[in-house]
Amino acid sequence: ILGSDQAWCRTADLLDLTRGRILELQRNHLDTLRLLSRSDFATNPRYQIEKDPERSGCFFSARGSVPFQAADHPVIWRRRSRRDAGFFTPVRTRVRKGIPKTEPRGQWSGRLGFILAATGSAIGLGNLWKFPYITHENDGGAFVLVYIAMVALVGVPIMMAEILMGRRTQQSPVGAFKTMAAGKPGGQAWQGVGWLGVLAGFTIMYNYSVVAGWTIHFTWLALTGQLSELATDASALGSYFGDEFLASGSQQIFYHVLFMGLTTGAVFFGVKGGIERVAKVLMPLLFVILLVMVLWSSTTAGFGEAIHFLFEPDFSTLTMGAILEALGHACFTLSLGMGAMLTYGSYIGRDISIPRAALQISFLDTLIALMACVIMFSIINTSGIEVAKSATILFTTIPTVLVKLPGAGLINALFYVLIGFAALTSTISLLEVVSSYAID
Ligand code: PFF
Repeated sequence: ILGSDQAWCRTADLLDLTRGRILELQRNHLDTLRLLSRSDFATNPRYQIEKDPERSGCFFSARGSVPFQAADHPVIWRRRSRRDAGFFTPVRTRVRKGIPKTEPRGQWSGRLGFILAATGSAIGLGNLWKFPYITHENDGGAFVLVYIAMVALVGVPIMMAEILMGRRTQQSPVGAFKTMAAGKPGGQAWQGVGWLGVLAGFTIMYNYSVVAGWTIHFTWLALTGQLSELATDASALGSYFGDEFLASGSQQIFYHVLFMGLTTGAVFFGVKGGIERVAKVLMPLLFVILLVMVLWSSTTAGFGEAIHFLFEPDFSTLTMGAILEALGHACFTLSLGMGAMLTYGSYIGRDISIPRAALQISFLDTLIALMACVIMFSIINTSGIEVAKSATILFTTIPTVLVKLPGAGLINALFYVLIGFAALTSTISLLEVVSSYAID
């Protein structure tokens, strides 16, 4: 629209425009741009939208001066092709070192896409691997209650703040902090917080994906029948896991690289084509598989004891360390403090209610963590094995019980595939923080 007073665009782009996506961009630079609200757009006689009978789109015309322009932050309408003069599409722009840089910013296809992707980020090894073992370490009941309180009182508000910052600024963490603090005293220093997020996300991703890679190895062991053999003797499985598998550097690297390959693939295909597509299939599947396992575990002898352990608080066992661990885990499990929710929030529009989304994501995350605990402790109690309080119960104890079920190979495989999927939707969000920063 620069230099012209009429442009053609696809109906979808126009909808974006009227929905406020472009308008939101302008909001970041309020000082230089006039903000147009949606109703402004509809009622202002300077704008006209006409259907184009030749193409399935609309003419958008602006009469008089064109407000979509500012000295240093123009919203550029890029021409689709050289021949197609007048066919423009709005693209997001950033000006860096005086050179206008245009980059279309991805968006979720809708509310569900965002909720599933953000829930996918939240639900991962933190829920299925870490939460059960720290609950075991901290003696259940009271710890679980404190953890739920931390999620509600600390996690939900921080999540709302992160998503809001992303949506408001339409940028990755570094840029978001920079934009929000611009013009304030000491404002520049705030981008350091964004940097911490990118660094923390990057560091965690490289530990997280090593553990996530173990699930691929265990799926393979289960499918080839090797796990069933190993799992008949708990100590044999324990020593295989600790002395052989973990001690093999080449295997650790191999599975780590494989897992990072899957993550990179999903991130490469972008917000809608990769991340959202993966999450839309995997998250419901994960929930159904877990639900089936909870129902199955309710038929086991150890189920009642597991429920008592998890939901009957005994505050005499609660330590200060446990309270801190509950707080730390609430942030980790909700993917907070690393810019993941902020980045995902930068792909949403104004039609999404952030408090509602934060509550839904936190509820689903807590529900899955508790379901994982019910399954795990029912299995442990039923087995009657004295399980050491360790981080490896998921890989050393659970198979020894699952192996007794009919179709053990398949059940074990399904179990590890599920954990791998949950981890994948989380590593995707960790990598997205880094890649969105690079793209921005
Ligand atoms: N929330 C994920 C889990 O519970 O496994 C881990 C995680 C993902 C943490 C993304 C931080 C993050 F940015």
